[in-house]
Amino acid sequence: MTAFPDAAAFRATACASPPDERGAFGDFGGRFVPETLMPAVLELEGAFLEAINDDAFLQEWFDLLRNYVGRPTALTYAARLSDAVGADVWLKREDLNHTGAHKINNTLGQGLLCLRMGKRRVIAETGAGQHGVATATAAARLGLDCTVFMGAEDIERQALNVFRMKLLGADVVEVTSGTQTLKDATNEALREWVTRVRDTHYIIGSAVGPHPFPWMVRAFQSVIGVEARLQCEQAGIKPDIVVACVGGGSNSIGIFHPFRETDAGLVGIEAGGRGTRPGEHGASISYGEPGILHGSRSTILSTPTGQVQPAHSISAGLDYPGVGPELAYLAETGRARFVPITDDEALDAFVRLSELEGIVPALESAHAVAWLFRGEWGGQRPTILLNLSGRGDKDVQQVARMLAERS
Ligand SMILES: Cc1ncc(COP(=O)(O)O)c(C=O)c1O
Repeated sequence: MTAFPDAAAFRATACASPPDERGAFGDFGGRFVPETLMPAVLELEGAFLEAINDDAFLQEWFDLLRNYVGRPTALTYAARLSDAVGADVWLKREDLNHTGAHKINNTLGQGLLCLRMGKRRVIAETGAGQHGVATATAAARLGLDCTVFMGAEDIERQALNVFRMKLLGADVVEVTSGTQTLKDATNEALREWVTRVRDTHYIIGSAVGPHPFPWMVRAFQSVIGVEARLQCEQAGIKPDIVVACVGGGSNSIGIFHPFRETDAGLVGIEAGGRGTRPGEHGASISYGEPGILHGSRSTILSTPTGQVQPAHSISAGLDYPGVGPELAYLAETGRARFVPITDDEALDAFVRLSELEGIVPALESAHAVAWLFRGEWGGQRPTILLNLSGRGDKDVQQVARMLAERS
């Protein structure tokens, strides 16, 4: 028995429920880019369509996922956590991936696509540094030049990942505009892409950006949910709830998408930060309004005059004022619900999961774990599938500091 999908089955699931001809999911998505970028996004759409329908491309990517990343990742029953929260909790262990998070699934897929388009250089934005590390890793493995844009504040928060990216041969460009976080790094990467579209592919790290990015990133990250469904079926597990943290939305849509035709409830956990006032959180679906950010229409955090409202989260990877359009659509249609979890709850969950299961989660993933402690399901003990999107090595110094400040 294997929990690894075959090409045809993967394609059928990953490509199901595509966006419409405008690249939109209902009222969300689309392609709002300067004219100079249109040829690049159209070229990308064509290349992606061809690649995803080519078994040889999928096999090459699967081979990397299997023998380089270490997929399929384990599905772990968390016995002590289950007792603590009164539910049967299964963890999809994206923390076990090479480089420590789900981001590598997408960067290897897009890296292969870059080669297929005859380009030799990739650029990326990063917040937590995980996507930057995953891009630099894929670039090293595939022999591509790599430049990563990162906000100055995130460079400070994630010094270890900055060092890792440089070690992997990437140039790290410090972004000092705006709030000096992920949104500004994304602006800068988009600006750079406009000037270098001929030889450069922009590897967006989440299910955001202009069409085809949200759809393409969803397809690559669907490997999480496709595997998890196979693993659940083989083990006779029927999740009542699938839960994942939401930054831009790639790990959540990656695990949700293959479960959307099942009876499972889908719960996305947003960054509730320090409070509900503007600037205190990163909960774009819970507190945002429809708007356009980074090339697509979604729900975003904005000021009364329509400017982007800076976000806040304890975790750099959730510190983003927008969210992927497909998640906004799932929220609007009621297929998924979204809950903000505070910085403090995430910090507690970071410690609790470490103590209870011997697994140190990424601060982003700790938001999803924290939701379990709220016990908001009512009724009988449910079976919950939780996407543990990454491991917490990158966060331990920051957490040590915050715990010391707390006591
Ligand atoms: C471990 C981890 N989980 C989650 C996220 C949030 O991103 P997304 O919503 O795209 O999964 C990040 C972003 O950097 C991350 O590093």
